[in-house]
Amino acid sequence: MRVITTATDLSRELDEARRAGHSVGLVPTMGALHAGHRSLVERAAQECDVAVVSVFVNPTQFNDRSDLERYPRDLDGDVALAEEAGASLVFAPQVEEMYPGFPDTSGTTVHVAGVTEAMEGASRPGHFDGVATVVTKLLAITGRCRAYFGEKDYQQLAVVRRLVADLRLPVDVVACATVRDPDGVALSSRNARLSSAERVSARVLHQALLAGVAAIEDGERDPERVADVMEVVLAGEPGVVVDYATVVDAATLQAPQVVAGEVRLLLAGWLGSVRLIDNLGATAPPIGPYEAEERSIRLCAGV
Ligand code: PAF
Repeated sequence: MRVITTATDLSRELDEARRAGHSVGLVPTMGALHAGHRSLVERAAQECDVAVVSVFVNPTQFNDRSDLERYPRDLDGDVALAEEAGASLVFAPQVEEMYPGFPDTSGTTVHVAGVTEAMEGASRPGHFDGVATVVTKLLAITGRCRAYFGEKDYQQLAVVRRLVADLRLPVDVVACATVRDPDGVALSSRNARLSSAERVSARVLHQALLAGVAAIEDGERDPERVADVMEVVLAGEPGVVVDYATVVDAATLQAPQVVAGEVRLLLAGWLGSVRLIDNLGATAPPIGPYEAEERSIRLCAGV
């Protein structure tokens, strides 16, 4: 396993691989790799001749300095996991390599509009500019590739899809299912910072999402009522301070008037000083004309 630290070396190596007819897969990460990342790397290694794992704790996507300082770092452990999972290369640049002139990061910034305003974008101002900027840099350095992102960060996935489409980057974005512990808690590097009591409380996030999905499956079409169902479950766990619980259109991330077609349920909450996010998808049959009319009458009447 080789660790490359400069953009020039990585680009040269991957250009050579492509010239030799090899396909390239990129798994962008901030390190502290866990079984969720492993599943991304394994898939990249299965589907591509050369699988690259980037390990870079991106300072511009942290709006809370102490969150950046406390972010777990373990490059040796990351390299070992990446190798076991079948990666060919690890790209682990220093911060100045990605942001020349650091700590001044006021150079080019990529801003993706339309899918960044709500949820994480509202709670963490500037976060998605940091994500979009560093992902654009990583994709530019990597060149033509398949890039693997977890559905756990569903809004981030939408941001990356949007920037790849709008900037016409030669990249296939591959979405990978969230990996969960047996009790339903989504794997996250942040879980390592939970106390044992907080780790128990964290189960409620997935339970709330399941309750929301069940409400939709039982025929609930009002997004606010689905959100209420999730909030009631969350309120049953005093260890969690809810940031948001919401239902959006799965493709546009806009709040729908009616739950119909592919939707995504997303939530975020604080467990002590640790903020966790999670989400699940659901499908509701498209709404018929009678139902739509009945709903608009109810909305006008305020019931
Ligand atoms: O999901 C992450 O780990 C990060 O947001 C990413 C995509 C590697 C960008 O820093």
